[in-house]
Amino acid sequence: MLRDSLMPSESYTPGHTQNAMDFMSRRTLESHGQFFLPHLASGLSVLDCGCGPGTITLNIAVRVTPSQVVGVDLSASQIELAAANARRESVSNVEFKTADCYALPFDDKTFDRVFSHALLEHLSDPIRALREFHRVLKPGGIIGVCSPDWNGLLVAPSSSQLAQATQAYAALQARNGGDLAIGHKLGGYLFDAGFKDVRMSARYECYPSLDLIGNYLALQLERANDRLSAETLRAWSRSTGGLFAQAWVSATARKEG
Ligand SMILES: C[S@@+](CC[C@H](N)C(=O)[O-])C[C@H]1O[C@@H](n2cnc3c(N)ncnc32)[C@H](O)[C@@H]1O
Repeated sequence: MLRDSLMPSESYTPGHTQNAMDFMSRRTLESHGQFFLPHLASGLSVLDCGCGPGTITLNIAVRVTPSQVVGVDLSASQIELAAANARRESVSNVEFKTADCYALPFDDKTFDRVFSHALLEHLSDPIRALREFHRVLKPGGIIGVCSPDWNGLLVAPSSSQLAQATQAYAALQARNGGDLAIGHKLGGYLFDAGFKDVRMSARYECYPSLDLIGNYLALQLERANDRLSAETLRAWSRSTGGLFAQAWVSATARKEG
């Protein structure tokens, strides 16, 4: 049965504001999921967990057509948006369902591939979610997950105030049950969840404007009543010649069989 909300100790930090939805909707399989491209081919069934607006999910569906792709998200608003995007783009081999990644409404051994981008860093028990992904994956199937690691964050111009503001954001996500330094832990978590042949890689995403990322982070700090950190980020985002480069760590692994 679907929980009404996240785990008691969990709260999804970005929320489902228009800003957060626009922010996620920029993502494509090519821009954010390229590490998984070698594992996608026509005929493979795929589950995308925590699909959000579904832009990456739709790209996956086009790659594996005519086989079926399912995108799940705990938020009904995201599922409605993803389904509307699928209709608008006439992608028919995809289905979107409201579901909890800790208790997926699928039989054991259902999917050839499980993909999850930018979900695990919001969870208080990522290994439990990975065990659930392992359960629904067919023997021999492959999982691909990707999350940020703010241990590798590069920002310019840097200052102690900006460092405090980004730390305040990471602390907010931690209070919400998440972990913005999860990236380098993904391989170990996959192993603990029962997967084999774990392979990790990393890349940087350099945001196209300081304003895009500064505003996104500031809005969430404001929603949490941290106006000082929000204002620091907004002031920083007006600087010229700056950089916000986020490290994304991806990991693939195989279910034995
Ligand atoms: C940062 S967004 C990522 C969306 C998309 N995968 C992407 O990378 O653009 C994370 C998504 O995970 C969803 N989510 C959070 N907790 C979840 C849970 N327990 N089960 C399923 N989805 C969850 C949120 O509603 C949100 O849409």
